[in-house]
Amino acid sequence: MEIQLWREILEPYAMAVDELVMKFQHLMVEYKTNGIYSPIERVDGRVKRISSILDKAQKKQIPIEDIEGQLEDIAGIRIICQFVEDIDKVVELIRNREDMEVKKEKDYVNHAKASGYRSYHMIIYYTIQTRKGPKRLKAEIQIRTMAMNFWATIEHSLQYKYKGNMPDHLYEKLLKAAEAIIVLDHEMSLVREEIMDAQNFSSHKSRVISDILNDIQNLYKVGNKQEMIKIQDEFYRLYQQDDLEQLIRFHKQLDIIAEGYRAQSL
Ligand code: GTP
Ligand code: MG
Repeated sequence: MEIQLWREILEPYAMAVDELVMKFQHLMVEYKTNGIYSPIERVDGRVKRISSILDKAQKKQIPIEDIEGQLEDIAGIRIICQFVEDIDKVVELIRNREDMEVKKEKDYVNHAKASGYRSYHMIIYYTIQTRKGPKRLKAEIQIRTMAMNFWATIEHSLQYKYKGNMPDHLYEKLLKAAEAIIVLDHEMSLVREEIMDAQNFSSHKSRVISDILNDIQNLYKVGNKQEMIKIQDEFYRLYQQDDLEQLIRFHKQLDIIAEGYRAQSL
């Protein structure tokens, strides 16, 4: 057997994890800056620790030379969503991407594992550019709701503590909790539309406010200072009334004033 240079083997996976996390984070930003509800709430990534890689290889009787070929979760990405419906959105989004090719999907959301575990898994091919050229590798993406993540995190800690010998009473409690998670996710779905509206509303409002303040600042540089102070007072008065429609109208008026100054300066 050749010597295994682990640092060199794992470095491309670290790069893939960094790139993938960044790409999903920018997607979230793209949704937010367009004032659209983001189906992604949070993204995490990790490269599997060497000890876990060796453990798994041993357990699954994978020859050390073939770890890269057979282990599909050396690079792991976890996408956390607020609602079950968001999971489908994210899955569709990944299927449609040109930089990720889906190798395999496992729907543990609709088909929970015997443990009670729920999550949507995708194994993708992803190509990074290295010093020696392109390298195509595999990454595992786990997509789950916050509630599913809560359950999986707790269960994982208990699995770790009992190393496969979990007492029956605990196992049963976890199964019960898994059922409660299904109910919770379902209840949350019922208020999803309202929550989405609330989130869209608050991001729209914060954009309007930041646009108004930006306009005032720009106008202050070119315009009549007294007039700008009056406009600012008017803004604070409207702001206190907490009426988005009024703020939007005010913003339009500011745009007209700005247009006037621009015309003057021509
Ligand atoms: P491993 O389960 O990783 O050995 O590989 P597999 O080929 O069976 O893939 P699977 O899709 O079943 O699981 C992949 C990953 O999902 C695991 O490494 C865990 O991170 C997670 N996972 C799967 N089952 C469970 C579970 O019962 N509890 C928790 N907490 N996580 C799980
Ligand atoms: Mg498994």
